[in-house]
Amino acid sequence: MNRLFALLFISLLTASCNQQNNQNPNNMVVTEEKKQSTIAIDAHTCAMPNEAVATHLDLDVEVDFTKKQIIGKASYQIKNVIGTDHILFDTYDLTIQKVTVGNPEKETKFELGAKDKNLGQALKVTIDSTVKMLTIYYSSNPAAQALQWLDAQQTADKKKPFLFTQSESIFARSWVPCQDSPGIRFTYSAKVKVPKDLLAVMSAENPIAKNDSGIYHFNMPQAIPAYLLALAVGDIEFKSVGPRTGIYAEHSMLDKAVYEFSETEDMLVAAEKLYGAYRWGRYDIIVLPPSFPFGGMENPRLTFATPTVIAGDRSLTSLVAHEMAHSWSGNLVTNATWNDFWLNEGFTVYFERRILEVIYGLDYAEMQAALGKQDAINTMNELGMTSEDTKLKLNLNGRHPDDGMTDIAYEKGCLFLRLIEENVGREKLDAFLNKYFNEFAFKTMTTEMFIDYLKKELIKGDTILEEKLTIDQWVYNAGMPANCPNIISTRLQKVDKAIEDWVQGVKPLSHLPTREWSTHEWVHFIRHLPYPFNPQLPDQMKELDNTFHFTNTGNCEILAEWLHWVILNKYSSGYGSLEKFLTTVGRRKYVLPLYKDLVKTEEGKKMAAAIFAKAKGNYHFVTASSVEEVLK
Ligand code: BES
Ligand code: ZN
Repeated sequence: MNRLFALLFISLLTASCNQQNNQNPNNMVVTEEKKQSTIAIDAHTCAMPNEAVATHLDLDVEVDFTKKQIIGKASYQIKNVIGTDHILFDTYDLTIQKVTVGNPEKETKFELGAKDKNLGQALKVTIDSTVKMLTIYYSSNPAAQALQWLDAQQTADKKKPFLFTQSESIFARSWVPCQDSPGIRFTYSAKVKVPKDLLAVMSAENPIAKNDSGIYHFNMPQAIPAYLLALAVGDIEFKSVGPRTGIYAEHSMLDKAVYEFSETEDMLVAAEKLYGAYRWGRYDIIVLPPSFPFGGMENPRLTFATPTVIAGDRSLTSLVAHEMAHSWSGNLVTNATWNDFWLNEGFTVYFERRILEVIYGLDYAEMQAALGKQDAINTMNELGMTSEDTKLKLNLNGRHPDDGMTDIAYEKGCLFLRLIEENVGREKLDAFLNKYFNEFAFKTMTTEMFIDYLKKELIKGDTILEEKLTIDQWVYNAGMPANCPNIISTRLQKVDKAIEDWVQGVKPLSHLPTREWSTHEWVHFIRHLPYPFNPQLPDQMKELDNTFHFTNTGNCEILAEWLHWVILNKYSSGYGSLEKFLTTVGRRKYVLPLYKDLVKTEEGKKMAAAIFAKAKGNYHFVTASSVEEVLK
């Protein structure tokens, strides 16, 4: 057997429970063999797929908006690999009514392990070697981490309630009992009952209109890991934007979203030209209410997106390129554990910018790359250049994976691929990546397997090249390696010049050449305003605002940058806008830095607490818990 496949096989067999690496929260059996294994152990699941693994899910649930619960059953087809007497699933605050085996169903014993605050509880189901399927009857907790239940007021149309899930990283277990590891894939089908005036969509083949029964059937024939399980329920409509692409959104958002994302099909064509056929059938996008905690989430066939990217000028569509790129890096070739997260995100950012280059040109892609590198450096400065979390290969064992998921995986990961590109040339790198996506499609990848593959397929014994790439430094060392690619963006250089002209009194604000600036140039401009502002000119904030109307901009990306200065410069005319933003938008990337700014002063702390009290009900668990951490 080829060495890589052998590794893959072993890693699948050993991708299992937390017990090997840290505490054993669930007090269940740990075998000697598992303790000793060192490859691709996923510390964030209780499942032991080397012993018994689920291969297909049939979900049959009702979405109850009154009780804020998902109630029903999850039937699994399973493979009892070693003939064990039990199978383990992950759960988080689920109520398990009963578990049956076989068809006709026969009740079997089950047991919930001790609670771990990060991992939840193992569900241990008694089976024997003849069991091929089992059914778990369950309901979710109204406070389930993955779920956000919105009332009508929190939606765009303000008429009907809305529900969406966010399963990445380890939240799927809070709405479906599952083997919740990125290294375990299964196919699924679902029957979902919702209130009759709402439509349900999933990370699967989707309906495009409501029906009279309120019952929707889904099928996902490609195997996916649990973190890609997704469901959204709301008063949504669909419009096509291309042969394989379309948009779901609430009525009042639909036309704006269709305009904003009209280049989606072109992006898909560009992506396929780069790295091979799109393997998931359709690529649709659903625009969610503003409390969605992320920019986007790459749920297969149906990207979940924040409405904050609907800027009206298609300037924030890099999000679509990003989530689409995950259809290869992440969804097709999946990080084996959350410690290998850079394999998902770093590759995706690289791929995203290659798509952007095709659609918007090199200038544009380089501007994004320069901003991205800046983000990586800022994050490193914040974490400290020697912080473990600035390594590409993370060690999240014993922590919640979300705690270590930063810009590093995205931007340092992308810079590493860019370094490879600079050294071998695009043609070779692209051929390599094509082969990589093909060979490992629907499989799992560890950092070590990738490095092996890189050496075998691209470096091929070229020691000079290998020395230049300093792989170990990039992957296993903290901070930014000295050979980090240099990125020059001519568009951003023009912005720097404009700032300088203003600061030195060469030109007033109104004479700066801002007419052609996109969102990104504005972001760069605001980010690089001199701070602290010159005390001789206390009215600089006002001058900026009067000239460019930042406080009232509808562009969330620009507003979030501006509000940072509003807080630091105590610009009270911006406080109303700040409060409105923090109480309507739940995207963590915007919200969290603003709370961090606020808590820097005593006065700000009070303001933060007061705003959070009002805003909390509009935040998804991942945003609320991050903000709570800052306010502590
Ligand atoms: N997969 C991520 C979102 C994610 C990461 C959810 C980690 C949970 C844990 C998604 O693809 C992403 O990276 N979103 C970015 C979009 C941006 C890079 C264009 C975001 O939400 O900001
Ligand atoms: Zn991503």
